[in-house]
Amino acid sequence: MAEGAFSMTTPDMFTPLEPASVSDPVAARMDALRRQLHHHAHRYYVLDEPQIPDADYDRMFQELQALEALHPELTSPDSPTRRVGGKPLQQFASVRHAVPMLSIRTETDTEASGAQNFDARVRKELGLGASDPPVEYVAELKFDGLAINLRYENGVLAQAATRGDGEVGEDVTQNIRTIRQIPLRLSKDAPPVLEVRGEVYMRRDDFESLNEKQREKMARGIKGEKTFVNPRNAAAGAVRQLDPAIAARRPLSFFAYGLGEVTPEEEGGPLFETHFELLMTLKSWGFPVADLTGTAQGASELIAFHEKIGRQRDQLPYDIDGVVYKVNSLALQKKLGFVTREPRWAVAHKYPAQEQITTVLGIDVQVGRTGKLTPVAKLAPVFVGGVTVTNATLHNEDEARRKDVRIGDTVIVRRAGDVIPEVVSVLLDKRVQDAPMFTMPRKCPVCGSDAVREEGEADYRCTGGLFCAAQRKEAILHYSHRRAVEIEGLGDKLVEQLVDANVIRALPDLYRLGLSALVALDRMADKSANNLLEALEKSKATTLPRFLFGLGIRHVGEATAKALARHFGKFEAIMDATEEQLLAVNDVGPIVAKSIRTFFDQPHNREVVAQLRACGVRWKEGEAAARAPQPLSGKTFVITGTLPTLSRDQAKDLVEAAGGKVAGSVSKKTDYVVAGAEAGSKLVKAQALGVAVIDEADLLTLLSRY
Ligand code: IVH
Repeated sequence: MAEGAFSMTTPDMFTPLEPASVSDPVAARMDALRRQLHHHAHRYYVLDEPQIPDADYDRMFQELQALEALHPELTSPDSPTRRVGGKPLQQFASVRHAVPMLSIRTETDTEASGAQNFDARVRKELGLGASDPPVEYVAELKFDGLAINLRYENGVLAQAATRGDGEVGEDVTQNIRTIRQIPLRLSKDAPPVLEVRGEVYMRRDDFESLNEKQREKMARGIKGEKTFVNPRNAAAGAVRQLDPAIAARRPLSFFAYGLGEVTPEEEGGPLFETHFELLMTLKSWGFPVADLTGTAQGASELIAFHEKIGRQRDQLPYDIDGVVYKVNSLALQKKLGFVTREPRWAVAHKYPAQEQITTVLGIDVQVGRTGKLTPVAKLAPVFVGGVTVTNATLHNEDEARRKDVRIGDTVIVRRAGDVIPEVVSVLLDKRVQDAPMFTMPRKCPVCGSDAVREEGEADYRCTGGLFCAAQRKEAILHYSHRRAVEIEGLGDKLVEQLVDANVIRALPDLYRLGLSALVALDRMADKSANNLLEALEKSKATTLPRFLFGLGIRHVGEATAKALARHFGKFEAIMDATEEQLLAVNDVGPIVAKSIRTFFDQPHNREVVAQLRACGVRWKEGEAAARAPQPLSGKTFVITGTLPTLSRDQAKDLVEAAGGKVAGSVSKKTDYVVAGAEAGSKLVKAQALGVAVIDEADLLTLLSRY
């Protein structure tokens, strides 16, 4: 975490203190820790709105535990270390647990040594020497959810309770009943009293779709709806939802990992020798037990488990924050016993935290290959999820507003697996006064062209497609596409090289390429260089629709480019057309018209067009549509099979030039199917529907008849 971001957890506080001489500052420190922990436990357990990452909470908790061990005289009965969780909400009935719900000690050493430390402690407590055999453990996942006690009486789910403070929890039976994975009735061999303990959690995919729904509700202006920070908070919120009908709509899951009160063996209760046997029995009674649970011999197998799960962690369908090791033999568990409220026979071994606190140094706006503007928070470097993170995406304007991240803010960043780092939330109480709200720039930060956000879209885009350095590669590739101006042999690898080597800084530089610059590139022989130069030369003689399409104007696809060319005839007419004039073109709606206008309003784009023409790019201009003959106007064609002389693209161009439309599939609305050799299902369908089937010669006759 960022040094000093949370003043109570600076590392120097961990250095052992001399008991007598410094007892006052120690008492003050312990008091401060207790107050902080109470505050954060309330935020976490009661409000489901944590303000700090779990790792920081754990660190404070452990510091307090350590100080209490050193200074037992300074402990206080209300210390958070005496409790396991938060206060029950007033609205739920309280439930006193027949057997207290304990906590497990957390091994925060995330390295392999964490497992070794635990094994060494267990062996020492059991009085085992180096030559004694390894201790057998059960290795489980540490699910990131909410602990629940399920009480079955005579095989029927009688009560479900949260952990609460470990002694008294909340009665959440109604809500828990809605979880399908939890059996409401057990098979005959279950004992008369059985309490099963485990974790209620939310799967990641369920969490995503829940938040998606919440976002929709917020967008519709429904009051009181919010999105959840993570699956655990969503699960906790659902379990402690007072309205069971709402809880029922929240997708929850469950894993069992232990027992509470159970009918004793003398009264006909079950007899287990090991924890693993207990888990397998729970499974046979219908409780979900995670498949990744297994036994392990000694520290080395615990380490192997920790590493294996660490590798799989991000692919799991649910969040875990570590693994749990438990001594397998119940007799040994009994022998080991407890320290305060934590068993000596179990430990939670964590993974590096995926959330950390840091500060926002600035907010940059990056421009993607396609012109999309993305706000990115620049962070004070922080080690999270196993790497040092300095950037976190804010996605788009709405997201940035929703999170309201400002320069100077203290934020929680999250990085899980390969997922790009994200700002989870802002710690508002640490905001610098008068920090201005972030606003998206109205100009592209790379090229200065207008940045626009179209109606119904989330992103701002740079409109300087031809000129903008960020979009150079994409613009060149698009321009040289087979269906645009077509420059044969100019693929993405080559464009990459040309742009990276700074040989091409703007689109017209393509036509300024010389042989020497080309052969200087990697893997470029004389022959291919000459071929490319030839292809470039050939591309100069193009058509107006191809050129228009090649400019990469947003929303101007091939069909629109053709319609524009047909309608206006001349390039200048299109470039200077008003939105209203553009709207007169078939298929051009307000969004497209505006996009074309904005594109040509950028002086840089016009300049690039002028330069391309100066380099020799040319096309035959036609007359405006009103005067041009449109013999096939209103007719729809489908072209299928191999035609004797024309390629399908050529046939399509001819039909469209004559005002016809070419569709991809045959329907009753099709006027003609042009069938060549090996025409298949489309021909069959045409015959079935009674659509006229013609060949290439017929098509040419149709075209020449007018
Ligand atoms: S055993 C006496 N096993 O971690 C041992 N707990 O402090 C009681 N947790 O909130 C707990 N996965 O809900 C155990 N496989 C697992 C667990 C697990 C998650 C949670 C538990 C509690 C915390 C333990």
